[in-house]
Amino acid sequence: MTGIKDVKCVLVIGATAGIGRALALAIHNLDSKPIVVVSGRRQERLDELAKHGERIKTARVDINTTHDELKQFVDRVLSEHPNLDAVILSSGVQHIFDLKKPETIDMSKIDDEVNTNYVSIIKLIVLFLPHFLKLSAEGRPSFIVPITSGLAIQPKADVPNYCATKAGLHSLALSLRAQLADTKVRVIEILPPLVESELHDHQGTTPALSKLWMPLDEFTKHTMEGLIRGDLQVAVGFSAQLLVKYEKGKRESVEQASKNQ
Ligand SMILES: NC(=O)c1ccc[n+]([C@@H]2O[C@H](COP(=O)([O-])OP(=O)(O)OC[C@H]3O[C@@H](n4cnc5c(N)ncnc54)[C@H](OP(=O)(O)O)[C@@H]3O)[C@@H](O)[C@H]2O)c1
Repeated sequence: MTGIKDVKCVLVIGATAGIGRALALAIHNLDSKPIVVVSGRRQERLDELAKHGERIKTARVDINTTHDELKQFVDRVLSEHPNLDAVILSSGVQHIFDLKKPETIDMSKIDDEVNTNYVSIIKLIVLFLPHFLKLSAEGRPSFIVPITSGLAIQPKADVPNYCATKAGLHSLALSLRAQLADTKVRVIEILPPLVESELHDHQGTTPALSKLWMPLDEFTKHTMEGLIRGDLQVAVGFSAQLLVKYEKGKRESVEQASKNQ
């Protein structure tokens, strides 16, 4: 399976922090010298990233928005970067909800989490697909790289909606890959374990979780190896164990069932 080592132009949505930022910089260092388009809401962080090299370009976006604005964003990126051949979807948010105390639950956070982690991601994939299918018709490979989580497989009860959004995205990745099997559009799902990042900062849980998480450098090294090999599911640490324990054969079954239709 072809990996990402020869990519020409990669968009990383959610590149202003954590996993997305680390992957954007690691991809920028690939021998193929790709253009890396970094994206996210915080312009000052995008500007800081652009200082790492001339091949780093910025495209600010808040993906928690309307369909029309998402389409404008995709059209703008493709007109500025017609060679785009990979999209890494790293943007994500996580909220703690105590469902036994329903009066404490901020309904707008449910919308925020579902829209950011799932609804906008499938819309972005649909909006980028005509371009990638055109590349495929020209014989060129491309990559759609959703970032789910080990929690897509085994939920953690204090972040119930987050886990449901990631389970949804994981399921989507399986179906999308099966539907695109006879094209040159590759779907590579990254399933991180608990990794050093800013994801938990607003929840007040970072001090406790930082004792357990995988250092970002270690995660990035292993994940880049998987992306370069072209693994269809890139899982390290605890996520790799969960894939083996609960999902052995699942990806192959989805692909076989799709072929039989
Ligand atoms: N760290 C972990 O333990 C872990 C484990 C499993 C899965 N993951 C997943 O890995 C991905 C990266 O998370 P991380 O851990 O690196 O978290 P992070 O450090 O908090 O980074 C999250 C990124 O998402 C972007 N983002 C959030 N909302 C956005 C929006 N509405 N529009 C555009 N960008 C948005 C943020 O940028 P702005 O704020 O600038 O917009 C930031 O760049 C997420 O999908 C997360 O669910 C993380």
